[in-house]
Amino acid sequence: MRNIQLTISRGTCSTVRASLLVLLSLAIAHAIPDYSGLPPGPYCAGRFDTGRCCPGRQDDCGAPILSTTCYCDDFCNRTREEDCCPDYWSHCKLITLPTEDPLFGGNIRQCFHEGKYYKHGETFLSNCNICKCSSLGQFAKIRCDEKRCLMDTDLLRELESQWDMSWTPGNYSKFWGRTLTDGIELRLGTLNPGKSMYRMNPVKRHYNPDALPREFDARLKWPRDISGIKEQGWCGSSWAISTAQVASDRFALMSKGAEAVNLSPQHLISCNNRGQQGCRGGYLDRAWLFMRKFGVVDEDCYSWSGMNDKCRIRKRTDLRGAGCNRSPNPFRTELYKVGPAYRLGNETDIMQEILISGPVQATMKVYQDFFTYQRGIYKHSRVVENYPTGYHSVRIVGWGEELYGNSPPTKYWIAANSWGSDWGENGFFKLQKGRNECEIESYVLGIWPKTVPYN
Ligand SMILES: *[C@@H]1O[C@H](CO)[C@@H](O)[C@H](O)[C@H]1NC(C)=O
Ligand SMILES: *[C@@H]1O[C@H](CO)[C@@H](O)[C@H](O)[C@H]1NC(C)=O
Ligand SMILES: *[C@@H]1O[C@H](CO)[C@@H](O)[C@H](O)[C@H]1NC(C)=O
Repeated sequence: MRNIQLTISRGTCSTVRASLLVLLSLAIAHAIPDYSGLPPGPYCAGRFDTGRCCPGRQDDCGAPILSTTCYCDDFCNRTREEDCCPDYWSHCKLITLPTEDPLFGGNIRQCFHEGKYYKHGETFLSNCNICKCSSLGQFAKIRCDEKRCLMDTDLLRELESQWDMSWTPGNYSKFWGRTLTDGIELRLGTLNPGKSMYRMNPVKRHYNPDALPREFDARLKWPRDISGIKEQGWCGSSWAISTAQVASDRFALMSKGAEAVNLSPQHLISCNNRGQQGCRGGYLDRAWLFMRKFGVVDEDCYSWSGMNDKCRIRKRTDLRGAGCNRSPNPFRTELYKVGPAYRLGNETDIMQEILISGPVQATMKVYQDFFTYQRGIYKHSRVVENYPTGYHSVRIVGWGEELYGNSPPTKYWIAANSWGSDWGENGFFKLQKGRNECEIESYVLGIWPKTVPYN
C-alpha cells in the first residue's frame, strides 16, 4: 500500500512542482532574472517548528511563494531543485551552507558550474549562452540563456550514437560559442531559391544517361582549372562565393587555361546590392544577372573583406582608380561576363553538364548536423529534423559510388563548401546522390562564360 500511495503522490507532486520550475524557466527564457526580488518569507518557518519540517517527500508540505508552492520536505536534500523554499536549509535543517560545496549547486556567495566557481552576480559564457550566478532567495544558482548552440556536446554525442550514419561528425572549435541562428544567418547565405529558380531557363540535353561514368572528379580531370576552397567566415555569402567560383572554373576550362581567373565574390557582395543583402544573403538569379550585365573583376582587383562595404567599382572607369592590374589577357577589354544561367533538371542532366562543361552551382537545405560533418557520405540525421534550417550554395565538382557489404552502392556528389579547408574533407564533402537529399538536385545551375579570343 505504501508503495502505491507513494507513486500516486509523486505523480501529483511532480505536476505541482513542475509549475514552479516552469515559472522559473519561463522567466529565464528571455533574460536572467534577479531572484533577490522574492518576497522575504517566512516560508517553511511560517508553518513548521525549527528543525521539524517533513521527512521524505510530501505533496502537502509546502508554503506559498509567488503564485505557486515551494517545499519543506527532505526531498530537497536529494534533488537540490529550485522548488525548495528559500529558508528550507536554514529553518528545517539548521544548516548554513558551506561556501565551497559543489554538491549544493551553490549558495548565497558562490555558484559552482562545470568545475568552476563563480561569484554572486558574475556572468560568463557557457558555449553560446550567457550564464549568471544569481540568487534565489537565500541561494545562489546558475541561470543560463537557453539558445540552441551551433556546435554542441549533446548533439555530437547523439549523432555518434545513431546506428545508420554513413558519415562521421566532429567538433569544430570555430563554430563553438555561436548559436544555431548565427550559423544559419552568417554561415550560409542563399535566399529563397524556390522563387528565384522560376526565373531561370531549363535546358534540354541530348545524351545517353547509361553511358555516364560511375565516378567523375573535375579536380582530377582538370587539375589546373578548378578553384580551391574559400572560407566565408561569419558572412552569409555562399551566394557570391559559389557564383564567383563556378564562373572562375568555367572561364579556365572554356579558355583552356588562357583565362584562368579567380573571380571576386567581394565584388558581388559590395556592388551587387540591388535586392541583395550582402553578408545577410543573396539570390542566385540576381548574382548571375549582375555578372551578365555588368561583369565582375578578379580577386586581386577586389579582394575579400567578408563585410558589406561600400562599392568601389561601379563602372569600368573605376578600375583605374581601384589600382587593378590589367588582365593577363591583352584582348580582354571588359570585365568577366557570362551568358544567361540555366537550370539542370535531374540527376543525369547534372552529371552530363559537369562532365562536359565543369562544376555547377547547387543550392542545398542545411540542417544543423551538416556543420559537424567531417568525412563520409552525408545525409541529414533525424535528430536535427525539427530544428531551424537554411539555404546554402555550393559547387558540385563530381560524383562517385561507395560499396558497403552486400547492399547496393551508395551514390554521392562531391561538392566544395566555403567553410575553409579545415572543414570536412579538405573543405569538400560527399552527399547522397539521386534522392534529392537536402534538395541538392532541385536547384542546380550552369552558365556559359564569355571568354575572349587569346592570341
Ligand atoms: C541528505 O540526506 C542524506 C541521506 O539521504 C543524509 O545522510 C545527509 O545528512 C542529508 N544532508 C542534509 C544536508 O540534510
Ligand atoms: C569542442 O571544442 C570546444 C572548443 O574548442 C571545446 O570547448 C569542447 O569541449 C569540445 N567538445 C567536445 C565534445 O569535444
Ligand atoms: C533526366 O532527363 C533527361 C531528359 O532531359 C532524361 O533523358 C533522363 O533519363 C533523366 N534522368 C533521370 C535520372 O531521370
